[in-house]
Amino acid sequence: MSLFDVYPLYDVTPIKAQDVWVYDATPTKYLDLYGGHAVISIGHAHPKYVENLTKQLGDIGFYSNAVKNPLQVALGEKLPLQANCPGYQLFMCSSGAEANENALKMASFVTGRKKVVAFHNSFHGRTSAAVAATDNPKIVAPINAQQEVEFLPLGDLDALAAVLAKGDVCAVIVEFIQGVGGLDISTAEFYEGVDKLCKETGTCLIADEVQAGFGRTGNFFAFQEYNVEPELISMAKGMGNGFPVGGILIHPSIKAEYGMLGTTFGGNHLACTAALTVLEVLEEEDLMAHALRVSDHFKAKTTEIPQIKAVKGRGLMLGIEFDFDTAALRKKLIYDQHIFTGSAKNKNLIRILPPLTVQNEHIDQFFEALKIELNNL
Ligand SMILES: Cc1ncc(COP(=O)(O)O)c(C=O)c1O
Repeated sequence: MSLFDVYPLYDVTPIKAQDVWVYDATPTKYLDLYGGHAVISIGHAHPKYVENLTKQLGDIGFYSNAVKNPLQVALGEKLPLQANCPGYQLFMCSSGAEANENALKMASFVTGRKKVVAFHNSFHGRTSAAVAATDNPKIVAPINAQQEVEFLPLGDLDALAAVLAKGDVCAVIVEFIQGVGGLDISTAEFYEGVDKLCKETGTCLIADEVQAGFGRTGNFFAFQEYNVEPELISMAKGMGNGFPVGGILIHPSIKAEYGMLGTTFGGNHLACTAALTVLEVLEEEDLMAHALRVSDHFKAKTTEIPQIKAVKGRGLMLGIEFDFDTAALRKKLIYDQHIFTGSAKNKNLIRILPPLTVQNEHIDQFFEALKIELNNL
């Protein structure tokens, strides 16, 4: 084995994918309720996506950020408008961790401070400051541990007030729906309280929308369920429907300086075309409203299964919780029922993160399969 063996792999080899379906060479057809970890937003191989990216590749795929790129300018105009974040400025990079790394760096530049507050069960990525703000000591190397991060219980406003009162925190970083942790959501009072405390203490609020953003929850961003105004919004996953693209939206009050941020690949022509096409299809196919309708159907179906103890999340960022470890059940769903689902840090939870084009009939197929496999356990 010459690959550095860090991924425990399922024995499935996809060679083709279309909308909510993934195919191997046998050919077996798998229903994708995982979206390659919440990445597939407008569906695998969407015809418009294939056409636009193919054409762009034939024209120009990449040039550096040393020259003008009208596609980046177009995205910088369209994204804040469509996301209802008027005036926010776009900086592009290539992954979720990089987006959070840049957001944390910006918060530190803006405030002149270096301490970060994150929450229990958070996941923000695997790079320097992002992994230090991730509540999983197993993936934090000694070199990352030098970052000053305080983890607080999600929902504990008093604890947050006490920490922020010291005036040395540059950023509070929060997933408004926890992804890898297990789909937990706190209250509106908590999230709006976090925003208020940040504003009172000159601390930047970073909304980590890497997994929840780009329409997955039925809002463009999950924080938009509440009355909050983050200084920084990080994005990736659904933004490119599989093309590696990430970015941050930066509050209009924050002024750019040359050299503050930078990257070679961020915002290249293909990445911009991917993100622009995702925005176009989200709008044309009204996928955010569709996500909410399918989500309602999904939630209604869960009432047919008494073994489900809780349904978590919003829109098409969902979790179903059982009172046992679901690893064996997920394996059976893949190998016997040919359905991909996701796991979480909470072992009793199955994560559902399908392409936003998923239909009620696919959800019905999942619940029929789930009933069969629960009986077989
Ligand atoms: C909320 C959140 N933030 C950041 C990341 C890191 O993104 P990436 O794996 O693209 O670096 C993830 C990945 O799962 C995530 O779910």
